[in-house]
Amino acid sequence: MKLWTGRFHKELSKTTNDFNSSISFDSRMFKEDIMGSIAHATMLGECGIIDKDQASIICQGLEQIEKDIENGDLVIDMDAEDIHTFIEGELTKRLGDAGKRLHTARSRNDQVALDVKLYLRNQINELIALVKGLLEVICNKAETNANVIMPGYTHLQRAQPITFGHHVLAYGEMLLRDLSRLQDCQRRMNTNPLGSGALACTTYPIDRTITTKLLGFDGMTNNSLDGVSDRDYCIELASVLSIIMVHLSRFSEEIIMWCSWEFKFVELDDAFSTGSSIMPQKKNPDIAELVRGKSGRVFGDLTTLLTVMKGIALAYNKDMQEDKEAIFDAVDTVKMCLTAFTPMLDTMKLIPENMRKAAAGGFINATDCADYLVKKGLPFRDAYKATGELVALCIDKGLTLETLPMAEYKAVCDVFDDGVYDAISLDRCAMERKAYGGPAPENVAAQVNRIKEIIKD
Ligand code: ARG
Repeated sequence: MKLWTGRFHKELSKTTNDFNSSISFDSRMFKEDIMGSIAHATMLGECGIIDKDQASIICQGLEQIEKDIENGDLVIDMDAEDIHTFIEGELTKRLGDAGKRLHTARSRNDQVALDVKLYLRNQINELIALVKGLLEVICNKAETNANVIMPGYTHLQRAQPITFGHHVLAYGEMLLRDLSRLQDCQRRMNTNPLGSGALACTTYPIDRTITTKLLGFDGMTNNSLDGVSDRDYCIELASVLSIIMVHLSRFSEEIIMWCSWEFKFVELDDAFSTGSSIMPQKKNPDIAELVRGKSGRVFGDLTTLLTVMKGIALAYNKDMQEDKEAIFDAVDTVKMCLTAFTPMLDTMKLIPENMRKAAAGGFINATDCADYLVKKGLPFRDAYKATGELVALCIDKGLTLETLPMAEYKAVCDVFDDGVYDAISLDRCAMERKAYGGPAPENVAAQVNRIKEIIKD
């Protein structure tokens, strides 16, 4: 059934119908559409715009349609123009005149803006739960590995020793910000566009505060043109989701490296890895690679939304129908990635010996050697230069700072004594980095508690 009969003399061509239709991707909003229509009909009844009895017949009819779709008694017609058309058509089929009154003082333009907001508002709750789930696993990993020493890198060169707890909590901080961005975005989108009509509200005596309250909004949109043509909430959510994917992708990249024989810092559980069809020795980190790869999809969705919106004159234009596939794909992809990534991380086993071995090479304690001289009274720049000479000497002789004899130390700078060997020991270098935000195990424990406090409900 078409909503816009009357003006037209011919049937829509099949190709136009297929091209125009959005039901293949907006049918997922059937519950939100029904919820919005129930609120609208209730308001129409309360304001005396339609009969109260008619309003309640409409509401019951809509509830029945929802049940019938859910239990499979009513199959959504994929030839319909969109989910809004389908449900209104079905209601009219069932109720006759009462069904035809539902769309009084409403347009599909405010209806679709409403449905998408209701849908995304719910999806954000699911996303928040998934991000919290990952944060919990990160906290547990940090807690049990607060003492595991590994190399910290800059430029992917071994730089200074850190703890695994500290490393993994860096991702905890990123995800905490993501969490607050999701909450922020949800709060900002929680305004009711219903009542904006097609673009200019309506002359009917509607009361928008009724639907606002019934649908759990914090307030209503203040300008009808903006109410129907704003898609900032899709763009904002897609940006938040893109940032989440940046974080998951960086984490994935590290896990992929750690799994390689060149690092072998970790071993993924068999249940979360895959093999090769030809090379029997292979165990591949496919989940992490897919998460890294899927980040591109989500950035693409954000670009789609920005591009669709940038040239649209006020108010609604059909271009805006393109918002749904992009934002739904971004939401689905991030949910899927979090669902796969979290148990993979949870079951990932560390190989602390290899992490320690890597930290013990590469002059990772050179800064601490320089700091030792500073504590003895040398200016940092002089200490830095002397240590640089020592490192060059070690490389020359095939030694490390730990194995270089005291005579060689003294030849470079006579301030050195045997105390240096303790000062540059790996454990001290990592465990003594106690300044707030640093890798010392007590800091890791405190940060874990802080995060757990934030995510507990
Ligand atoms: N399916 C459409 C969409 O998703 C509904 C709005 C149609 N409005 C219109 N004026 N043609 O955007």
